[in-house]
Amino acid sequence: MEQHPAFTRDQVKVIFVLGGPGVGKGTQCANLVRDFNYVHLSAGDLLRAEQAREGSEFGELISTYIREGKIVPQEITIALLKNAMTDEVKKGRSKFLIDGFPRKMDQAVKFEEDVAVSEFTLYFDCTEDVMLMRLLKRGETSGRADDNIESIKKRFKTFVETSMPVIEYYQGKNKVISVPCEKSKEEVYEIVKEQISDRMTI
Ligand code: C5P
Ligand code: MG
Repeated sequence: MEQHPAFTRDQVKVIFVLGGPGVGKGTQCANLVRDFNYVHLSAGDLLRAEQAREGSEFGELISTYIREGKIVPQEITIALLKNAMTDEVKKGRSKFLIDGFPRKMDQAVKFEEDVAVSEFTLYFDCTEDVMLMRLLKRGETSGRADDNIESIKKRFKTFVETSMPVIEYYQGKNKVISVPCEKSKEEVYEIVKEQISDRMTI
């Protein structure tokens, strides 16, 4: 029988990285990958890759959900994450930053049941004004179908209604590190490094 969760906490260390859209999750994860031995898996990036993959049965569905700022059914996202993690574990990797996930309670519960239990959640806390500015700036070059004002408003709403409860759930378990994000990316990264090294050997 398959082991549940698929990976034990001895096999893998999983950090969830959450925060509103445009808060800088990807940027800060890239810093941690550059300086330490983390594997960065962005749920949004995996979904976009699956959407673009020729022959994907989920392409159209993913594209609609992303444009509408809605959360893609958890089975799809969890399968993509589990596959990506399995590939990395086979290569001997064990430290994961799971970025933009879990964005909904059912994702949190199912992932921890089936794939791996998280060490903690890194939560980037930011005002909507700052996130909006960053997203519109990114939208000038990102080519993303959801970096436009209509989609952004929907993504903010989804974040508040659907993703904040996940952060509150982990806060209740004392498993959240909150990092304020209004400052420059360099200053934010200093806090990230300090906080993470306090919690685990980075
Ligand atoms: O994290 P990112 O901003 O790249 O996510 C883009 C979109 O991908 C989200 O607005 C949502 O539609 C989808 N997504 C999801 N479930 C996740 C992460 C992203 O449905 N866990
Ligand atoms: Mg991202």
